[in-house]
Amino acid sequence: MKPKILTGIRPTGTLHIGHYLGMLRQTAALQDDFEVFLMIADVQALTDHFLEPQRVREAVLEVALGAFSCGIDPTKTTLFIQSLVPEIAELTVFFGNLVTVSRLEQNPTVKTEIAQKRELFGKSVTYGFLGYPLSQAADITVFDAALVPVGADQLPMIEQTREIVRKFNRLYGETLIEPEARVVDAARVRGLDGAVKMGKSLGNAVALDDSSAVVSAKVMSAVTDPLKLRLHDAGHPEVCTVFAYHELFNADNLETVAAECRAGTRGCVACKRELSAHLDAFLEPVRVRRAQLEPAATMRALLDGTQWARRVARSTMARVKRAMKLDYELEPA
Ligand code: TRP
Repeated sequence: MKPKILTGIRPTGTLHIGHYLGMLRQTAALQDDFEVFLMIADVQALTDHFLEPQRVREAVLEVALGAFSCGIDPTKTTLFIQSLVPEIAELTVFFGNLVTVSRLEQNPTVKTEIAQKRELFGKSVTYGFLGYPLSQAADITVFDAALVPVGADQLPMIEQTREIVRKFNRLYGETLIEPEARVVDAARVRGLDGAVKMGKSLGNAVALDDSSAVVSAKVMSAVTDPLKLRLHDAGHPEVCTVFAYHELFNADNLETVAAECRAGTRGCVACKRELSAHLDAFLEPVRVRRAQLEPAATMRALLDGTQWARRVARSTMARVKRAMKLDYELEPA
């Protein structure tokens, strides 16, 4: 039996190159050696998008299309919808006894996110948002995942999951697997405006389905070294967002790009054109695969994956309930 991997994506919009470089490429590379579960985290997405259920609903299929076009193979990976696996919600409730409110309030990821979402939450925060680390711990453990590929921002989530698992196993006997994080290097692609985070809603992201023309227009609007005003001014690649993208998409020519920029022999417009071409070449196979995907068949693959995910989750919950003395037999109604 192959060891299991689980990771999740929140469906809040179309996928962008950050998702691809971050998690999807890594996950696709692991499909042969692990049993991979890739969860579309619609329940988690609602913890901060509860005002926009329609947006989450529409993004579920978008994420599935994006995942398959980035090389996630439905014959190898189980792609599924979180809300259709109620066992996750059930386990989340059980985990509620194993963690204190103050521990949740100290989770650095949650803390940062609450600060960013003042507008949504006001002075307080919902129980659901504060508690989503429990739900994430349930996502992981209900599938017996040993490894969780995530960006570095998610490390506190995995740490908290590990604490919960240790506590569960101590109280109720060895039942759950303590997972490890696998940090994805390129998980944070900064926005074209230089913001640390790329996001569709921030308007600074290249979407996986952007056309060549759109990619080019977005790259042309990207910020560069603010001190390089004229073509022949010497530039500072280390502060330039366009250069940061060359690092990701034009690695073979990086030294030339940096040297010419520093020497003042490379203008920003030419530099952006070169980047656009590379970005476009990177996206082309993704677009081709995407064009071949049919929404109805994609949805079917997603639902098939969900059936399997439920079977796995149900069997873990039988173990959990036995451990917690909740293993009643109820005749089917
Ligand atoms: N919180 C993750 C993110 O925002 C998504 C996610 C949900 C996840 N459940 C997960 C990641 C379980 C890893 C494991 O990116």
